[in-house]
Order: sequence, then structure tokens, then C-alpha cells
Amino acid sequence: MIRSRIAGIGHYVPEHTVTNDDLAKRMSTNDEWITERTGIKERHHRKNRNDSEETTAFLGFKASEKALEMAGLTAKDIDYIIFATLSPDYYFPGCGVLLQEMLGCDTIGALDVRNQCSGFVYAMSVANAFIKSNAYKNILVVGAEVHSFGLDFSDAGRGVSVIFGDGAGAVVLSAAEGEGKGDILAMNMHSEGKYADELCTKFPGSKYGWSDRMRLEPENVTDAEVYPHMNGNFVFKHAVTRFPETMEEALKAAGKTVEDLDMFIPHQANLRIAQFVQQRFGLPDEKVFNNIQKYGNTTAASIPIALSEAIAEGKVKRGDLVLISAFGSGFTWGSVLFEF
Ligand code: UT7
Repeated sequence: MIRSRIAGIGHYVPEHTVTNDDLAKRMSTNDEWITERTGIKERHHRKNRNDSEETTAFLGFKASEKALEMAGLTAKDIDYIIFATLSPDYYFPGCGVLLQEMLGCDTIGALDVRNQCSGFVYAMSVANAFIKSNAYKNILVVGAEVHSFGLDFSDAGRGVSVIFGDGAGAVVLSAAEGEGKGDILAMNMHSEGKYADELCTKFPGSKYGWSDRMRLEPENVTDAEVYPHMNGNFVFKHAVTRFPETMEEALKAAGKTVEDLDMFIPHQANLRIAQFVQQRFGLPDEKVFNNIQKYGNTTAASIPIALSEAIAEGKVKRGDLVLISAFGSGFTWGSVLFEF
């Protein structure tokens, strides 16, 4: 039996922090509203909005270096890359190939996953399937975002732009054989595309690229159509329904109960969502890890950043049973239950 074991993990965020008060200087918002509605106190943004150095692939590269170091591997040992992001460096190609080049990996496969907030969970499910089928031995799974370049910092965008932050997390998932600690025990993935328009960025997109138009027109920019749109209340209501469903499904599939869990790490979308789910399952504070207060919502990066921090702080130890769950744009949602 081949086990899928997390051999290494790391995270990286740009140095520059942006507090709620900093945002209040740029738009009609305030620390009280942001804290009360989301739990967020600050987030990291790359310093210069036009900085072409601190790209999404670069943040992923920095996180990957740390994950490789913890795993005791080099880039040459990696035989597949899975990169989850909604904010790629280019419209195409994806960030996976850019990371392959930055790390100096061999000409290995590089897959990009576009499942937004659930991106990392989806990416882990693919990596697990590859490992279990003996296709690859060491897979680098990355979630990274640079949101700060693509948010509307005018009053019109305040409902979205105060929430998101930049950052990256990376995991080396390795094949292990025989008895021992560490394995992915259960996973489930879901989608409901009828709600695609409730949380999306529409431009540039081929749906709008009819023959006499370019990929983007100046009016798309002036009409703020290039920025993310989120029907916050609607997304919130679905999130608090889908989180418990996917969590229960994963636990049941592995023959575990919520009492068996050592740690639950939800996608860091909103502290109120995480607290609702915690209460619903009666989980004590020490069994739920949140760090949205410091990073905001970093979409595909939020779970690997949180898992990396929880491990670094000794809150997740080898052999612990950990559940990661996400819900977001698509709608997509899912969970991965694993022994660390
Ligand atoms: O990670 C992907 C998945 N995403 C999520 O799970 C997000 C789910 N949704 C949410 O987290 C919440 O819906 C938000 C935090 C986005 C919004 O919180 P809310 O309690 O649903 O607020 P709301 O959108 O209903 O807005 C309430 C009021 C509005 O004013 P009026 O119409 O009541 O006068 C907004 O205009 O708050 C206003 N508002 C703001 N005020 C100050 C919206 N954004 C801001 C702001 N600062 N940044």
C-alpha cells in the first residue's frame, strides 16, 4: 500500500503589511467594520502594485523552497508540479511552468488548477491520486495568489478589496510505503456551476470576446468589470451549509468522528464562517486554526499558509488527524482528511 505523506511544507508572504487603518485612508471603510464582519486586522500586499518581481509564481517559488528544505529534497527530486491560483502571472501559460523554470526542475509535468478558494484542496486530491496510483513519487503542490494587483481600491470595490491578501503555501506530497505515519485518508470535491456569477471576475474572458472586440476594451476597465464581483451574503449562506456537509462526508468516508480530529483548518474566507462551523461541530479552540486576522483571505494559498504556520507553531504534530476544507467561487467546495 502506498501512502501519500506530507514530507515538507512552507509558506511565504510579501513583507509589506496593510492594516485596516491603511485601507481606511484609501476608501470609505474602517477597522471596526472589517474586524466585526471578517475578523481581518491586516493583510500582506506586495509593496509596489506594478512590481513584476513579486509575482504569484515567485511567491510560490519562495514557499516551495521552504517545503523542499523541510522534506530534505531538491528540485531535481520533484517529479510533478500542481499549482493552484486565480491570479496567475500571465493570462496563459499558467504558473506551474514558471515555477518549474524558477526551481530548475527537470522537464516534469506542471499542471495549473483553477478552483479559486478550493484550489489547494482540489490540487491535493489530484496529487494524492497520482501518488496512490504510483505515477509519481514527489509532487509539489502550491497555492499562491497576488490579489493586490487586481482589486478595486475605490469605494465601489470596498466589499471585496478589504478581504483579500497576497501569499503562498507549498507542500511536498511524497509516496511512502509500509507501516508508518502520514497518509491521506479521505477526500471529496464538489461543484455547482449555476452560481458561477455570484463570485467571479469576468474579464478578460472568451464569453465576451466577440469578433470585433479585443480581449479587453477600455470600458471594461472604467466600468470596473475587470475586478472581482462577490455577492457576499449569498456566498456566506452557501458556505455555512457546504462546509459542514463536506466535513462530515470526509470523516464518514474514513470511519472517523469529529472527536477523532486533532486539527481542523478551514479555508480562511471569513472568521465568522470558521466560528460558525466550529460551533456547529462543538470543536474546542485548540482544534481549529485560524490566521485570517494576519493575512486576510489568500484564496488558494490560505490553507497551506495556515497548515504551515500550525505545524511551525507545534499545533499540528506528526501522526495528528487533520481536516482541511474549503468553499468558494464556482461554487466549488471539498475536503481532504489526512494523518500528518
Ligand atoms: O473565499 C471565497 C468565499 N468567500 C466568502 O466566503 C465570503 C462570504 N461573505 C462574507 O464574508 C461577507 O458577506 C462579507 C464580509 C463579504 C460582507 O459582510 P456582510 O455582513 O455580508 O455585509 P454586506 O455585504 O451585507 O454589507 C453590509 C453593509 C452595506 O451597507 P448598507 O447597504 O447596509 O448601507 C455595505 O455597503 O456594509 C457596507 N460595506 C462596507 N462598509 C464599510 C461593504 N463593504 C464595506 C467596507 N467598509 N469595506
